[in-house]
Amino acid sequence: MSLAGKHIIVGLSGGIAAYKTLSLIRLLVKNGASVKTVTTPNTLHFVTKLSLQTLSKNNVYNDVFSEVNDFSTEHISLADWADAMIVAPATANTIGKFANGIADDALSTTFLALNKPVFVAPAMNSKMYENPAVQKNLQTLIQRGIHMIEPPVGELACGDEGKGRMEEPEAIFECIAGFFLTESDSGKSFPRRRESPNDKGLTKGGNDGTDGQVDPAPTSSFHEKKILITAGPTHEAIDPVRFIGNHSSGLMGICIADEFANQGADVVLVCGPSAIASKNSAVKRIDVVSAKDMFEVCKKHFESADITVCSAAVADYAPKQIAGQKIKKKDENLVLELVKNPDILGYLGKQKTKKQILVGFALETENELQNAENKLKSKHLDMLVLNSLNDDGAGFGHQTNKISVLFANKEAKHFELKSKPNVAKDIVNEITHLYSVRAT
Ligand code: PMT
Repeated sequence: MSLAGKHIIVGLSGGIAAYKTLSLIRLLVKNGASVKTVTTPNTLHFVTKLSLQTLSKNNVYNDVFSEVNDFSTEHISLADWADAMIVAPATANTIGKFANGIADDALSTTFLALNKPVFVAPAMNSKMYENPAVQKNLQTLIQRGIHMIEPPVGELACGDEGKGRMEEPEAIFECIAGFFLTESDSGKSFPRRRESPNDKGLTKGGNDGTDGQVDPAPTSSFHEKKILITAGPTHEAIDPVRFIGNHSSGLMGICIADEFANQGADVVLVCGPSAIASKNSAVKRIDVVSAKDMFEVCKKHFESADITVCSAAVADYAPKQIAGQKIKKKDENLVLELVKNPDILGYLGKQKTKKQILVGFALETENELQNAENKLKSKHLDMLVLNSLNDDGAGFGHQTNKISVLFANKEAKHFELKSKPNVAKDIVNEITHLYSVRAT
């Protein structure tokens, strides 16, 4: 994915994960971006200025009071120069400063002066990450439209296991490239920016106080239509600390919900555990954890829904028993007995009336078309969206997706790799067509 012509600030705060950011800078530069780096005073305990300079091919901005760099204005010109900023690693301290408007070093002053999209990749010990103060600061930033790159679960530098390790450079690169892909294939910036009395002629969305909200479209094809959408993974508890889950981030379904809401629909989004915020505040989001919870909420809302889209990656099985206490490490092997979860889509397919439209998803790894056709038929669907893990950039864990759409009349359409907000537009377009044919 080319980033030719893009100006990107890479901000590094002082954490051990800074060594991984060197690879990110290489990736950005290799793919055509111009990169300038900004650091806190502590960053240079972890990586050298020379490495940052050499890889970015630019000076490092790290001292607000440097006589050489004259930072009294440098953070402003840097902010004007940039198309976007990625802060990786973002420590708890830096996240706290960003959320609370504190500007006491080169990184935090640059952030505050910036009115462009900002990506933040947190990196810290899992106990710090889970601390309510840090979680509150993260939520504040998400609500202000910052693109949060959630840390995966894994081994931490201190040897602990948990959530807090910085996302890998390749995945961070993909988030940034996917964002610019969205801009170029939609011909607009994302998120679209609200007119505000404080505009002062600034044009880019992102770190601009718009709360990341997307404006509703002025005309609406779905005005007063009720849409039910499932998204995200489900977590099936094993004991009070462990669960069975999957890699779905929720992004695909959240984008579909936003797109319907942009078109004036009354949207209920039933979402499994996901850190991604809905961009359109008109979406009525109901957060659930397990497949059973999702099933109960869907049963409640399905009857009144004109259109239902099931994009959630629902666990097919759940533990038969949930242990009341944390299961202790005793024997060499542990056997879990699993029982089938309700097939939500299958159930809705049996309930559906002739007026309702039901759309399912299929995530396949082999015999994709055949399996998808079987699902379309056996679950009584009007349309099925197929994505395959064999396609690069498709499925979960990506900002992008590549889909085929299959219809009950055996027609099929194949789409190119696109950003998920634009895949959502394609899906909603296809549903619009189905719906208008149904109405005539
Ligand atoms: O969330 P992202 O990271 O953006 O990733 C998006 C996605 C890859 C999760 C999404 O595009 C996708 O493919 N979702 C469906 C994943 C899935 O579980 O597919 P499936 O083939 O196992 O299920 C088929 C259909 O039945 C789906 O519509 C699913 O929502 C539904 N289902 C499955 C099991 C179950 N118990 N109840 C269901 O309703």
